[in-house]
Amino acid sequence: MGGIKDIKLLGREHTYLMRFSPASKIYSINQATANTLSVIPRYILEAIGFGGIVLLALALMAQSDNFGDALPLLGLYAFAGYKLLPAAQQIYTSLTKVRFGGAAVDDVYEDLHTRDTLVEIQKVAVKPLLVNHSISFQNLSFFYENAEKPALKNLNFDIKKGSSIGLVGSTGAGKTTLVDLILGLLEPSEGEFKVDHAIIDEKNTRQWQKSLGYVPQDIYLVDASISENIALGIPVEKIDQSQVEKCAELAQVHDFILEELAHGYQTQVGERGVRLSGGQRQRIGIARALYHDPEVLVFDEATSALDNVTEKAVIEAVNILSHKKTIIMIAHRLSTVKNCDQIIYLEQGEIIDSGNYQELIERNPKFRNMAI
Ligand SMILES: Nc1ncnc2c1ncn2[C@@H]1O[C@H](COP(=O)(O)OP(=O)(O)OP(=O)(O)O)[C@@H](O)[C@H]1O
Ligand SMILES: [Mg+2]
Repeated sequence: MGGIKDIKLLGREHTYLMRFSPASKIYSINQATANTLSVIPRYILEAIGFGGIVLLALALMAQSDNFGDALPLLGLYAFAGYKLLPAAQQIYTSLTKVRFGGAAVDDVYEDLHTRDTLVEIQKVAVKPLLVNHSISFQNLSFFYENAEKPALKNLNFDIKKGSSIGLVGSTGAGKTTLVDLILGLLEPSEGEFKVDHAIIDEKNTRQWQKSLGYVPQDIYLVDASISENIALGIPVEKIDQSQVEKCAELAQVHDFILEELAHGYQTQVGERGVRLSGGQRQRIGIARALYHDPEVLVFDEATSALDNVTEKAVIEAVNILSHKKTIIMIAHRLSTVKNCDQIIYLEQGEIIDSGNYQELIERNPKFRNMAI
């Protein structure tokens, strides 16, 4: 469904329909079988029940001379059968249904219960792991499975609490990989990623993630109101509306929501936010990252879909936050990271230079080229 525009434009609906049709056919056949099986016994049971009574009648007739004596007994059997058959049929139909639905229930149950992580995550309320001094990388390398070259090679650097750093570099340099490591989504292959003196590993990843706010390039919006999207995953009755509006203001989207949307913060955004433009979605994504007031903010090319004017406004908002929060930004446009305290210039997984904007412009010709 995510690729529907491309598929329609290319006229390739058929291929996709074909892909779904075998599964759909199996499902229909099974559904038909289940329905048929659940009613068939009724006829068999009726045949047996009433056939039995006829046989009984014949047997009684053969045995006794006075058939009239047997009639009450026959009547009793016929009446009992008449009453019992529907109940037997009901029991059978229900058993069929239980067996038919059982397979699906088993699958869902297994997903929810045997995969321990899901249950564990829900049970444990973790405290955020706060940064006191710095986040540091020591001799950190990362290899993707099956990749020939390391995506990151022997990185050594520190991010001081409250500072802002920009990650720049050509495509494939390893920026997203580095951010995924920071987010605790990947684990270093070699070396260490530390917050103060604590090494981030599987034991404290959840705690670390609690102090992070992340704005990806592609914001995922659910089909709900703007408020629910900003306070993603929080039950409607627990949403702190003033916090939602404060974050929307910081993300430069408050005025747009109030002035241009018919129902303000209660406007439904449509499936995956179809009723909003790319830039509007992006700013809602930024407001979302700010909602739980994280200590560290990570932007992965979060402003690259914005026009220059909007980008400027968003960057200004980010600048207001700087020195209050630790900010890590990946950017394609150097204008985005111009105000960062430190810029890290990556190429093929290695840091080839770092410093502030002015320093890099002066000493690094490659960086100067990027700036043009
Ligand atoms: N899942 C993966 N499996 C194997 N290799 C990967 C995977 N993801 C990325 N890579 C490789 O790792 C290297 C770094 O990729 P990364 O996505 O970090 O680059 P990037 O700097 O974010 O690039 P861009 O500016 O295009 O987003 C690339 O050579 C890429 O081919
Ligand atoms: Mg990337």
